[in-house]
Amino acid sequence: MRKNIVAGNWKMNKTYQDALALVSEIDNMVKDEVTADNVEVIVTPPFPFLQPVGKLVQGNPRLHLAAQDVSAHESGAYTGEVSAAMLKSVGVEYVLVGHSERRQYHQEDADLLVKKMKAALGQGIKPIFCCGEPLEVREAEDHFKYVNEQLRDTVAHLSNEEFDQIVIAYEPIWAIGTGRTASSQQAQEMHASIREELSRIFDAEAAYNKTILYGGSANPGNAKELFSQPDVDGGLIGGASLKSRDFTDIIKAF
Ligand code: G3H
Repeated sequence: MRKNIVAGNWKMNKTYQDALALVSEIDNMVKDEVTADNVEVIVTPPFPFLQPVGKLVQGNPRLHLAAQDVSAHESGAYTGEVSAAMLKSVGVEYVLVGHSERRQYHQEDADLLVKKMKAALGQGIKPIFCCGEPLEVREAEDHFKYVNEQLRDTVAHLSNEEFDQIVIAYEPIWAIGTGRTASSQQAQEMHASIREELSRIFDAEAAYNKTILYGGSANPGNAKELFSQPDVDGGLIGGASLKSRDFTDIIKAF
C-alpha cells in the first residue's frame, strides 16, 4: 500500500522561539484532531531548529522530521555544508532534494542531486525528490516531457532498492508561492504521467507503490480536491505549513 504524506516545508522562515511554538501547536492539533490513520506528517524546519523540533516530533508517532538540504559530501573541509550523518545523528528521517529553489538559486544540477540522494540514502535518510516545470514549459505544452527528463536524469540513476526508499514531489514552479494552484486535473494528469515514467524506468509495482506528493500553493481550501485524485498521495506544503491551523486542516483533508 502506498503511504499518504503531508509534509510542511518551512523554508527560510521562523526564529527558534517561533519554530518551537509552531511545532508544539502542530503536535497538539494533530494529537487532538487528526483521526485518519493513513497519513504521515512531516515537518521540515531550517537546520538550526532540527534538533529541538525533532525532540518534540519524537514524542508523537505521527510526526516525522525532515531537513531542507543535505551535502553530497560525506565529511571534511566543506564550510557551511551539513552531512547526511549529521542529520541522521539528530533524528532526521527525510530530506528534500531537487527543490526548484535549490536548483534555481544554488545552481543544483542533476548530477549533484543524484549524489545528494545517494549520500542521504547511505545514512538511511529518505529523499523527498522534487520535480516540476517552469511556466514557459507548461505554456509550450512540453511539461510531461520536461518532467520525464528530470526523472531520467536523476531518479533513474538509483538502484531498485534505493528507489524504494524515496518519495516524489511534483511541484510546478509556476504554482510555488504564487497562489496559483494547479487544478486537480492538472495535478492528476502529471502524477499519472510520473507514475507511468517510473514504471518504465523501474517496474509497475514499484511505480504503483510510490508516494507522489503535490506541491504549489496547496491550502485548506483546495487540499481535499487535490488529495482525492487517484495518483495524488499527499502534499508538500510551503506557505500554509507555517500556520498550525492551516497545516492541520490540510492534514485533515485526508
Ligand atoms: O516546498 C514547498 C513548495 O515549494 C510549495 O510552496 O505551498 O508556498 O507554494 P507553497
